[in-house]
Amino acid sequence: MALFSKKMAAQTEVDFSRLPRHIAIIMDGNGRWAKKRGLPRTAGHAAGAETFRTIATYCKDIGLDYLTVYAFSSENWKRPEEEVGAIMGLLKKYLLEAIAQMERDRVKMEFFGDLSPLTPELRELCERTREISRHYEGCQVNICLNYGGRDELVRAARAFAQDCIDGKADPNHLTVDRFGGYLYSQGVPDPDLVIRTSGELRLSNFLLWQAAYSEFYITDVLWPDFSKEELHRAIAAYQSRDRRFGGV
Ligand code: IPE
Ligand code: IPE
Ligand code: MG
Repeated sequence: MALFSKKMAAQTEVDFSRLPRHIAIIMDGNGRWAKKRGLPRTAGHAAGAETFRTIATYCKDIGLDYLTVYAFSSENWKRPEEEVGAIMGLLKKYLLEAIAQMERDRVKMEFFGDLSPLTPELRELCERTREISRHYEGCQVNICLNYGGRDELVRAARAFAQDCIDGKADPNHLTVDRFGGYLYSQGVPDPDLVIRTSGELRLSNFLLWQAAYSEFYITDVLWPDFSKEELHRAIAAYQSRDRRFGGV
């Protein structure tokens, strides 16, 4: 028993001198969190947005280089109009606040996904956020919005094919690195750690290319309940792994 608790304690101890460079999070479980409380799903999304603020700020404070979050998938349009509308409303609120506090927070923000189906107002807010924070150094937060891994790959293939037609690229010279340059994540290192909350054991079309050698951490905790302590557990678990990348 004593040994067990000692081991548990050791597992949540984070070595802040060797953090993963890039953490990606599938922020899942907002709906279940609301249901458990007899609240509408939209209340779960509002709570989830607060958790995102807390975790993103904390990641910046501990000196993480990159945080990528799955906010809205290319498949999430299948949800009731009211729920989609509420998520977009929360996004607008978040972006307006982020813009107002940008000079203080100095977090570089990027968006991965096809923003074209968003309202012109939201698109403009994303563009403005990206533009203002372009030169910030330190932490970069990537928000995956209308993002789908398969969409991203098809879009990249299309762009590459067009470059070949235009004489700017040659199929015989395509490499893994060059192909990466056609993805939303161009210039961003692959995630070292992918966290999924609320227990689902699947990728749900998230970072299909980039997660090739990521370590996975799945927790049953629902996203609105995710905390710094949970993040510590995930990082500690990551730090106890042996990454081999196919070697020995
Ligand atoms: C994640 O929470 C947020 C989005 C997908 C936008 P869910 O809304 O998927 O919550 P569950 O999975 O239904 O509990
Ligand atoms: C993945 O969660 C997408 C986001 C967290 C934004 P989903 O709730 O959409 O995934 P599935 O439907 O359970 O696979
Ligand atoms: Mg879900």
